[in-house]
Amino acid sequence: MSDFLWFEGTPILPVFSTPECLREIHDEFLMKDDDAVILTYPRSGTTWLIQIVCLIQNKGDPKFIQSVLPWELSPWIEIDSLYSLIKNKKGLCLFTSHLPFQHFPKSFFSSKAKVIYLIRNPRDVLVSGYFFKNQTKFVKVSKSLEEYMGWFLDGNVMFGSWFEHTRAWVSMRERENFLLLSYEELKKDTRGTIEKICQFLGKNLEPEELDSVLKHSSFEVMKESMPDYERFPEEHVSKKVQFLRKGICGDWKNHFTTAQAEAFDKIFQEKMKGFPPGLFPWE
Ligand code: A3P
Repeated sequence: MSDFLWFEGTPILPVFSTPECLREIHDEFLMKDDDAVILTYPRSGTTWLIQIVCLIQNKGDPKFIQSVLPWELSPWIEIDSLYSLIKNKKGLCLFTSHLPFQHFPKSFFSSKAKVIYLIRNPRDVLVSGYFFKNQTKFVKVSKSLEEYMGWFLDGNVMFGSWFEHTRAWVSMRERENFLLLSYEELKKDTRGTIEKICQFLGKNLEPEELDSVLKHSSFEVMKESMPDYERFPEEHVSKKVQFLRKGICGDWKNHFTTAQAEAFDKIFQEKMKGFPPGLFPWE
């Protein structure tokens, strides 16, 4: 079991990343104008968005998705072994990242590369992370949701504080090459949100191609198409892992006590003040 490595104030996993590599990513990695990035805080629906974007790029045809290792579809830039894939790729590049703002490639800020930032109710992110991380072999397991909530609120979880991650990235939402989406809108209006992604990426899909994107990115089809433990290299997860667990909004209500819900509300209001009403669809 690995403990976190603190990289410039951010907890990262030494099994996946090294400070040298993270420094290179920030200082030297050159983003190209036609790159596209899926950016999330972990457990916000990353896998779902990867599936959608890869299907869009293949006009709804699932063959590509079925023929590539799941973590190579849109490799995570902060994972050393996957960074080399991205670095050596010629032409259009799609990659994923959970990096907080201050560690992201600085070349992004002067490029036209497109970023889709997917947010999710942090209460659901917390519950999803609690259940997922207790079935992995790379982080310290928490004894209870109460204990995990303390870690989450203090930012002592992978990639640090949800609040800081979200505050910093959401403040980029007015940029033309930045699309802010939420898990909640993706659930509520999946087709409309997929159309928004197509428009942002400059992809025109025929109605039947869009139908196919919808079908092959549905929770049921994704769950059936691959056992959960195959979505992660086997040395890192238990066979019982539930990567695609429930796929719903509001599951936190089944797990938070009233006192926890009230305390969380208060912290959310304090830490996220200053953003316009309605920006966070779950509030
Ligand atoms: P739950 O644990 O609440 O079920 P990430 O990929 O960022 O780690 O996020 C994982 C979360 O996204 C899990 O949430 C998972 O079930 C959900 N998810 C993955 N694919 C989905 C899909 N097609 N539809 C809805 N939710 C999905």
